[in-house]
Amino acid sequence: NPVAHSKSPRIHNRWLKSLGLNAVYIPFLVDDPAAFFRLAEVLPIEGFSVTLPHKEKVIPFLHRLEHPVKKIGACNTVFRKEGKWVGTNTDYEGFLSPIETLLREGSIQSALVIGAGGAARTVVHALCDRGVRVQICNRTAVKAEELAKEAGCGHVLQEEVNSSGPYDLVVQTTNVGMEPDIEGDPLPGYRFTGRETVYDIIYTPEKTVFLRRAEERGCKIIGGAQMLRKQAEAQFRIFTGGMNPPDY
Ligand code: ATR
Repeated sequence: NPVAHSKSPRIHNRWLKSLGLNAVYIPFLVDDPAAFFRLAEVLPIEGFSVTLPHKEKVIPFLHRLEHPVKKIGACNTVFRKEGKWVGTNTDYEGFLSPIETLLREGSIQSALVIGAGGAARTVVHALCDRGVRVQICNRTAVKAEELAKEAGCGHVLQEEVNSSGPYDLVVQTTNVGMEPDIEGDPLPGYRFTGRETVYDIIYTPEKTVFLRRAEERGCKIIGGAQMLRKQAEAQFRIFTGGMNPPDY
């Protein structure tokens, strides 16, 4: 709530149609998760996506939580298994997918995560789970410290971020630089070395000011559209019992 802005119905319905599946993905504007779960028992709902502000609020209604939900405390995907509701979080897998090869070949040993909100929590836990040494940097330093304590990693003040590196990976998780304020840079004083991979989870615009600055320094860049696509693909496989979405 709100839900009208979501791109997910267009993405999932196009895939369902193209595979000829007798299913539809419909936006539900939900005030009260309890009421929605009652409705879901009446309608033949096999699974659904969960968006803000309900990602934590749905958890008490679930019968089983998969690993990322247990760890992050936020759920973006719910599906039925043997009549029970199971919750997972495909943002976790969606975030890791574009850097999976780099992680496997050992090219990412250290990372700087900018931001300490909900999106940062997913990113930080995913990286820590993969054995990456993470430092968190946030405008409000105490929030970086709290998240670092929760995840068992480090945190760094904005003023000290240049001397704390270099990092193999820099992940931008704040909404600074997102439409409509596309001129924003969350860490304007940060100097890229040119050797780091820079990943911004914002997908509108496709290339943020932060990514542009990194690219100009010669960094490899990854935009948020890749994460969005990968998390939607993971959801589709869950909803359809393992079918891969066609290319879109
Ligand atoms: P999300 O779920 O998208 O992560 P959030 O939980 O509200 O949203 O977190 C927003 C993050 O963006 C926070 O890290 C926030 O920093 P603060 O903790 O200091 O508020 C960061 N953020 C938002 N606006 C910012 C700005 N103008 N400059 C720097 N950081 C900003």
